[in-house]
Amino acid sequence: MKFLMVCLGNICRSPLAEGILKSKIAALNLDWTVDSAGTSAYHAGELPDRRSIAVAKAHGLDISDQRSRQITVSDVEEFDVIYVMDSSNYNNVMELCQNTDQQQKVALIMNMTSPKHNIAVPDPYWDDNGFEQVYQMLDRACDAVVKTYQ
Ligand code: 4NP
Repeated sequence: MKFLMVCLGNICRSPLAEGILKSKIAALNLDWTVDSAGTSAYHAGELPDRRSIAVAKAHGLDISDQRSRQITVSDVEEFDVIYVMDSSNYNNVMELCQNTDQQQKVALIMNMTSPKHNIAVPDPYWDDNGFEQVYQMLDRACDAVVKTYQ
């Protein structure tokens, strides 16, 4: 299975989602691919936000090897499941899809724990205190991803 985590900047939420899911699959020896990307290129080439790096580190994860990149049309072809953080990400990724098979790969990640509720992972960029909440939401969602696909 190949999972792509997507947010706007690929510096706050989706790098955490990538790091969390990677750590869970490593613990279970699952042969999955996990990557992340942003719908924008605002931060292309940059490290994750220092606050995401810090909250990951507080939970024993090192995400400082990641670099921001923008999602491409070939990602939508290549990955099996594309998890987005909010409805804006969802609409932007749907615009990249070229057929209904590709559209069906795209899902709000919190629907893994609260199906059909369409809950957003809040953008923490402007809120120093939002990172721990984002971590906790993504940790629960990634547990559900593992349970669903392992
Ligand atoms: P992310 O957060 O989408 O979780 O990486 C953001 C990062 C940067 C910006 C917005 C959100 N920005 O406007 O630069």
